[in-house]
Amino acid sequence: MCGIIAFSERGSVAPHLIKGLERLEYRGYDSAGIAVMSDCVIRTCKTTKRVNDLEAKYNAHPFYGGVGIGHTRWATHGAPTETNAHPHLSEDGHFAVVHNGIIENYEALRAELKSEGHFFKSETDTEVIVHLVEKYYNGSFLKAVLAAAKRLTGTFAAALLCIDEPDTVAVIRNFSPIIVGIGTDKTMASSDVSAIAEHTRKAVYLDDGEAALLRPDSVSFYDFDGNPVEKEITFLDGTEGDNGKNGAAHYMLKEIYEQPDAVRRLISEHLKDGEVSFSLPSLSREKLEDIDKICIVGCGSAYHAGVSGTTAFRRLAGIPAYSYIASEFRYMEPMVDSRSLVILISQSGETADTLASLREAKKRGAYTLGVVNVVGSLIAKECDDVVYTLAGHETAVATTKGYTTQLAALYMLALWLGSERKVLGDKRKKQLTKELAALPGIIEEALKTEAHAKAHAEEMKELESVFFIGRGTDYAAALEASLKMKEITYIHSECCPAGELKHGTISLIEPGTRVFALMSGGEVAAKTVNNIKEVRARGAHTVCCAPVSAAAELTDIDEMILLPDTEPLFFNIAQVIPFQFYAYYTALYRGCDIDKPRNLAKSVTVE
Ligand code: AGP
Repeated sequence: MCGIIAFSERGSVAPHLIKGLERLEYRGYDSAGIAVMSDCVIRTCKTTKRVNDLEAKYNAHPFYGGVGIGHTRWATHGAPTETNAHPHLSEDGHFAVVHNGIIENYEALRAELKSEGHFFKSETDTEVIVHLVEKYYNGSFLKAVLAAAKRLTGTFAAALLCIDEPDTVAVIRNFSPIIVGIGTDKTMASSDVSAIAEHTRKAVYLDDGEAALLRPDSVSFYDFDGNPVEKEITFLDGTEGDNGKNGAAHYMLKEIYEQPDAVRRLISEHLKDGEVSFSLPSLSREKLEDIDKICIVGCGSAYHAGVSGTTAFRRLAGIPAYSYIASEFRYMEPMVDSRSLVILISQSGETADTLASLREAKKRGAYTLGVVNVVGSLIAKECDDVVYTLAGHETAVATTKGYTTQLAALYMLALWLGSERKVLGDKRKKQLTKELAALPGIIEEALKTEAHAKAHAEEMKELESVFFIGRGTDYAAALEASLKMKEITYIHSECCPAGELKHGTISLIEPGTRVFALMSGGEVAAKTVNNIKEVRARGAHTVCCAPVSAAAELTDIDEMILLPDTEPLFFNIAQVIPFQFYAYYTALYRGCDIDKPRNLAKSVTVE
């Protein structure tokens, strides 16, 4: 999604804007630009290439000032051209704007403004904002910005400049995130706290319908009616920043290796003296015991974590549990009511589809629990309670530690609910808790599969399609393994429940087809072995990932990846790691942009 950065300071703002845009690159974009208030003229520089190209263009013809705004654009309305790149200026050059979100009524506004003589340069929805401000400007920048904001419907976070107020940046928010930072002799704002964390330890998260005026040594907050509002300061602990790749070739590889510590950090947060516990202030004992259904909702990898989690809640807490793709949730008649626990999973906490599902669940009276990584994000704030996954900042678009910490959170919640509702016997509870505590070590062992994946990835680079199969919770892991492969290698990858193969998909299997079989052993082993034999009999190249205890049952496999045994319910958390490496090295051999795959964004803030 688009990214916004803004500063009001006494020094030269352009380098800070460009550095901030570098921090936002991971969100995905196809053009970028900055605008700086320079001697009471708004100067701009834009590119349809990468941020480093923007930096080179700026350095070739620099301009200086202490107040500016910057933007990375992920095109929605209008092609990725320099004309459509943000910032957009008003006709008289009096105002500038950058925007993240979608102005749903922009066509009507555009027609209205054109009928009043405004001339539009771009095809974007965003440009209406700066023309509205121009229309309403009567000496007060704030009033004009608020009047414009009240005319907009849809989602927006925006930052604006006005040449009559050369030390000020105005920001507004409705739905799309924007965070204000309060530094020393500078204030700033961004779509993502990681882009400003190196400048401040004090952050303020704007809520919907709020605005702020940033000046080098002051920030003031308002509602859209112009009433001052008091805002709470969130103190940052310094981990929100993007601390670079630590020597890894890509953020994704660094984050794969951060998984043991991330999962260890989360488990230690909730597992104390042999007991798993959660502090969920809005979940009373009565409500906890009254839960009769669990719906786990998310997108992409977050959805896949939910698919894994449903089995854990059913088996450990004895509660009917269902997983939903967030963009489908409201259309599936989810039968949610006041006895429902709806869990919203989101690494970014800003995914529009998941946020919409959250609001739908609340409308139906459900208790909503966020499983979220980014502290203070919209989903975290709007849920009744939130469990933070403590994965730390995740830069690579393809999530790894974001996903495995989601799994760990769900496993612990299921264990805790089962214990609180007296469904789990002491013996089983102790055994599960022991296995849970051992998970970081299991993940560390799984990291040793890197060499195997690297050795076999080169064979993958010419493939046009691959298949992932699994049964039960293995199917959930196969979904995630398949998504990792397709999203960074651009190889078509299909996931099929192993038992479903013979009902259609097996028609696609021919000599040389690559089939990855995921198996956690136990009750699924024998049948999954049969499925492997089915595809192998048709010439498939089979790769199987299984626990050591299942090795004896796995004969005639082309590639075997064995992992230490653990509780089958928890095996997904290790099982997915070899396939994170397979995807990574295959993408490397194919020369793909591993951390910023084409067409993808780290946080999808449009529905
Ligand atoms: C996963 O690698 C993708 N980046 C994508 O599927 C992601 O999981 C999905 O967009 C949900 O994002 P969220 O967890 O931030 O809500």
